[in-house]
Amino acid sequence: MYGAYGHTGRFVVARLLDRGFVPVLSGRDAGKLRAAAAGVSAAGAVGAAATASAAAAVAVAVADTPAPGRAPEPAPAPERAPEPASASASAPAPGPEIRPASVDDAASLDRALTGVDAVINCAGPFATTAAPLIEAALRAGIPYVDVAAEIEANLDTFAHFADRARAAGVVIVPAMAFYGGLGDLLVTAAMGDWTAADEATVAYGLSGWHPTPGTRTAGTVSRERRGGRRVRWTGGRLEYHDDPPTLLKWPFPEPLGTREVVGEFTMADVVTVPSHLSIPVVRTHMTTAAATDLATPDTPAPTATDAEGRSDQTFVVDAVVRCGGTERRALASGRDIYAVSAPLAVEAVHRVLTGRTRTVGVASAGAAFDAPDFLHALSPDISLSSDIPRAPHLSRRTAS
Ligand SMILES: NC(=O)c1ccc[n+]([C@@H]2O[C@H](COP(=O)([O-])OP(=O)(O)OC[C@H]3O[C@@H](n4cnc5c(N)ncnc54)[C@H](OP(=O)(O)O)[C@@H]3O)[C@@H](O)[C@H]2O)c1
Repeated sequence: MYGAYGHTGRFVVARLLDRGFVPVLSGRDAGKLRAAAAGVSAAGAVGAAATASAAAAVAVAVADTPAPGRAPEPAPAPERAPEPASASASAPAPGPEIRPASVDDAASLDRALTGVDAVINCAGPFATTAAPLIEAALRAGIPYVDVAAEIEANLDTFAHFADRARAAGVVIVPAMAFYGGLGDLLVTAAMGDWTAADEATVAYGLSGWHPTPGTRTAGTVSRERRGGRRVRWTGGRLEYHDDPPTLLKWPFPEPLGTREVVGEFTMADVVTVPSHLSIPVVRTHMTTAAATDLATPDTPAPTATDAEGRSDQTFVVDAVVRCGGTERRALASGRDIYAVSAPLAVEAVHRVLTGRTRTVGVASAGAAFDAPDFLHALSPDISLSSDIPRAPHLSRRTAS
């Protein structure tokens, strides 16, 4: 788990433990890693007791053997979080192993990945972290999953690594998170037996958006990379433009109902969806309330309001594909866009490690996995519209 102590990384570590994986915590700051690992052990035996039965059935993320095709590195001396003073023979096992590593130091990344089965990258900006981590994953011969929301960084992952990853037989899944991942799964599920469509729209019905520092940095990096211009997917290609944003009314289903959205508030789905579906126009819209929160510099970071650390933010993601006069729709709802990225990323890793992928190389969520089956596996973290079939080959109800 690279970026293990960030806001999203902590949700992912918790989810890995819940599902019986044994995460190795990595990131650039040894002190923050120690604190995060101590937090995991203090949280108790979430990992030890609650997941003991799951551990028996689920692939464990740490192996003893060096990855094939590369010289074994000397194993790093395992560093663990200090045990609480009250630790006794009956106390839970010590915290997860930590392996500090910097994206500027390939050898440190190689040590961090020694003997692990997969790497999840939650450290952004991904313009800086994705390429070095993917290079390290390729050297180790292990799958790589990240949560990048940056459009250009995701494009780079496809452009720079597709051939090498395919040749190496390694699965690389960028944007395996709320933005880029969930919308792609919904669009893919909505397509059903269609192989092409005229357009796809993903409307984000967020109650609000308290961004993390990582989100703000990602936004700054992306704006700089595109010289302050806006971007959209139209005519089967990415187009940079200066058209002013437009406000639209979007008919979310009840109970959210019709809301004002900022049209073409472009998110990573414009990379992931067209990477595998023949759809010349892909748009994403965002509720004005959430877009305004994001644009306001003093909107605070999210705060936990439940035992899992989730904020009270709610979301509805409404994906509509249109072919001629026929529309198909798939819809998901849930709570906290950062927290829900953890089940998305961990489910992806689980499927890759258990051989439930449709391809190798760089692939978005919708291309890598059976989208309807993946979406149903996310319950209860995500509620789905009732008409998403469990089997992708079933014919779908059409609307209007
Ligand atoms: N696609 C999605 O839906 C989605 C969902 C969640 C998050 N994300 C993305 O994930 C990233 C992290 O978000 P977050 O909410 O976890 O933010 P965060 O709490 O601010 O955490 C950012 C993390 O990135 C690390 N980091 C930053 N620059 C680094 C570098 N050069 N080398 C190594 N580590 C570095 C930070 O470490 P330090 O503390 O040492 O700086 C920290 O661990 C953001 O880019 C965000 O946009 C995307």
